Amino acid sequence: MGSSNINPFKDQPSSFAKKFLPYTLLALLPVALLHLYLYPFFLSPTDQLSSNNRVIIPSPPLSQEERKKIDVRTSCDYRNGKWVPTKLGPLYNGTTCGTIKQGQNCMIFGRPDKDYLYWKWTPKECKLPRFDPRTFLKLLKNKHIAFVGDSLARNQLESLLCLVATASNPNLIYTDGEDNKFRKWNFPSHNITVSIYWSPFLVRGIEKTLEKNFNTLYLDSVDERWASDMDHIDILVLSVGHWYLHPAVYYYGDSVLGCHYCQNYTEIGFYDVFGKALNTTFQTVIERRSGSDPWPGSESEFGGSGISVVLTTFSPAHFEGEWDKFGACPKIKPYDESEKKLDGMDFDMRKVELEQVKFAKLKAEKFGNMRFEALDVTKLALLRPDGHPGPYMNPFPFANGIADRVPNDCVHWCLPGAIDTWNEILLDVMKRWKNKGS
Ligand SMILES: *[C@@H]1O[C@H](CO)[C@@H](O)[C@H](O)[C@H]1NC(C)=O
Ligand SMILES: *[C@@H]1O[C@H](CO)[C@@H](O)[C@H](O)[C@H]1NC(C)=O
Ligand SMILES: *[C@@H]1O[C@H](CO)[C@@H](O)[C@H](O)[C@H]1NC(C)=O
Ligand SMILES: *[C@@H]1O[C@H](CO)[C@@H](O)[C@H](O)[C@H]1NC(C)=O
Repeated sequence: MGSSNINPFKDQPSSFAKKFLPYTLLALLPVALLHLYLYPFFLSPTDQLSSNNRVIIPSPPLSQEERKKIDVRTSCDYRNGKWVPTKLGPLYNGTTCGTIKQGQNCMIFGRPDKDYLYWKWTPKECKLPRFDPRTFLKLLKNKHIAFVGDSLARNQLESLLCLVATASNPNLIYTDGEDNKFRKWNFPSHNITVSIYWSPFLVRGIEKTLEKNFNTLYLDSVDERWASDMDHIDILVLSVGHWYLHPAVYYYGDSVLGCHYCQNYTEIGFYDVFGKALNTTFQTVIERRSGSDPWPGSESEFGGSGISVVLTTFSPAHFEGEWDKFGACPKIKPYDESEKKLDGMDFDMRKVELEQVKFAKLKAEKFGNMRFEALDVTKLALLRPDGHPGPYMNPFPFANGIADRVPNDCVHWCLPGAIDTWNEILLDVMKRWKNKGS
């Protein structure tokens, strides 16, 4: 695990950095991120599902009040709200769920403060009920929900598995072996399939390596590692973004459109490129699935053989200064709404995403068998600087005292933690689909 000694910024000649100053600022963070993505200390050999000795915490029954308040409206603006303290802790903990990636299991790795577990997102417009695994199981009976994207997609998937596992045991039925990048579970109690596909660009691409320091993206074709399974997916949850910040060369067809943070081609940044990739992704879903049966009229809970596509919006990082200095993301409570405005790259990435979802919605309307939604978590995530593993991406980082330099993960989310709320909202959205359909 000696990778913490490697300076992630060392391979950037300064004259080059000056030439691309606007992009350099954006690039520094990604390079730190890449470090997290690529280095082996971040991968866990013990990431297996230990369904044998799991202790099940029964989910508390819905209170009278909660029942009454279940909102029958078909939509809610979840973005508009605040984090309020709550006494009710998470449904699961670091030992009751067997599916947490080591670097995100903050409890087990010795994170001492616990307050970050006791916040509830409360939208102004509607009541957001606590995640009820039985509702999930009922709604998704005979369905396949697939998470596709980067390590944040995985983070969200693992949260969901932990939440649902409090009511029913998942079985791991498929893994490709390589860093747990492609996995599939089922919940035999309800014939539900949950899967994860590694695809950090959604479109076809070649990921950068230490030798070849840039990604190569083919913006006009989807990544078939997930897309070839599209016919068997009912709910597709996409979560990407951070890999788009890295240096890259962009192809469209046979020609090079340009690049980001590289020497040989025209710098074109990554926002338009990201938009194009989402366009290709959504367009392909529409083309391939528009031929299937229209909703409604099937036995399923929310409709036919169509597909629902949910794009989880960009998840902000909270580095304060260098990623490997002590206290890189030191906050232990959420920001107040007024304290932190959504701006800069977080704002722009989200904007591209919302735009593309809007286009796809319009385009898909006439088919009546698919939906596109944004799971717009960017703002509520931005308010949670306390939710990241920070130094507890490694076990007991201060066992030998406090060092000046310590690797920090201020990108992913502790499990349990803030990201459980993404799935709380996702479930609520799916409930509303059903209300709308019936
Ligand atoms: C997790 O929950 C189980 C069961 O409720 C409990 O026995 C265990 O001590 C908890 N572990 C931690 C780390 O809190
Ligand atoms: C189980 O779910 C799959 C979809 O994920 C469906 O194709 C299959 O028919 C279901 N099996 C039963 C017995 O309902
Ligand atoms: C730029 O050109 C050099 C020399 O031909 C090559 O080694 C390098 O891989 C190229 N970089 C990109 C981003 O294409
Ligand atoms: C993708 O972009 C093309 C070209 O601009 C446009 O015609 C198409 O409607 C877009 N598709 C989606 C799903 O937004």
